[in-house]
Amino acid sequence: MDIRETIKNSLHWRYAVKKFDATRKINSADWEMLKESLRLTPSSYGLQPWKFITVETPELRQKLREVSWNQSQVTDCSHYVVLAYKEKVDAAFIRKNMTKIAQVRQVPLESLAGFEKAIISDIVEGPRSAVIEAWAQRQVYIAMGFLLETAALMGVDSTPMEGLDPNAYDTLLGLKGSGWKTVAAVALGYRHAEDPFLKLTKVRFDDSEVFEVR
Ligand SMILES: Cc1cc2nc3c(=O)[nH]c(=O)nc-3n(C[C@H](O)[C@H](O)[C@H](O)COP(=O)(O)O)c2cc1C
Repeated sequence: MDIRETIKNSLHWRYAVKKFDATRKINSADWEMLKESLRLTPSSYGLQPWKFITVETPELRQKLREVSWNQSQVTDCSHYVVLAYKEKVDAAFIRKNMTKIAQVRQVPLESLAGFEKAIISDIVEGPRSAVIEAWAQRQVYIAMGFLLETAALMGVDSTPMEGLDPNAYDTLLGLKGSGWKTVAAVALGYRHAEDPFLKLTKVRFDDSEVFEVR
């Protein structure tokens, strides 16, 4: 099939699942591909200020559900991924990234000094440092988008989830004091045949409302 047709069909097929089939599990090869879509997500300066926490323990899922408006997706999906962001993007975190670049690309760390300085003067010491949490969260949402689209292309269902108490998640997941904070989650798995949302027509504004050309 034409790649455009494939993408179009997948994006029409996907919807935010309300009721998962709790008996169906994503196989490990598919799960590895979904993880890879998260890992390969682009981020500003390539800093990757994220962590993706897969919650497997049923008891923990139940507790998270209780602080997620009791949404059934938390317990009934195959894989539940909590998306966390780096609270403080500091010089040490940027150095970690520079070290990785030097290692992967086999260049001296010193050759990256100018790049490192530019990043620090922007997001650590510059005016953007005041909004660094929002900046980090935005990077995580790019990962969410990558994950949702990849899942759709693979025929894996998903629900992006913001209907949760991030503070309670941080407590339950032991993130307090770790430097990582919950921002959202994604439930992944397979739709239940009786999900009432399955047959709803997609609601999107028309092209003329959302696209402009100047
Ligand atoms: C960031 C974000 C957070 C969302 N949070 C929830 C949620 O907590 N529970 C839920 O059932 N749907 C949630 N949704 C799903 C949206 O309601 C849904 O994507 C939107 O209505 C469009 O419908 P569609 O995804 O089925 O095309 C969320 C979507 C996004 C993008």
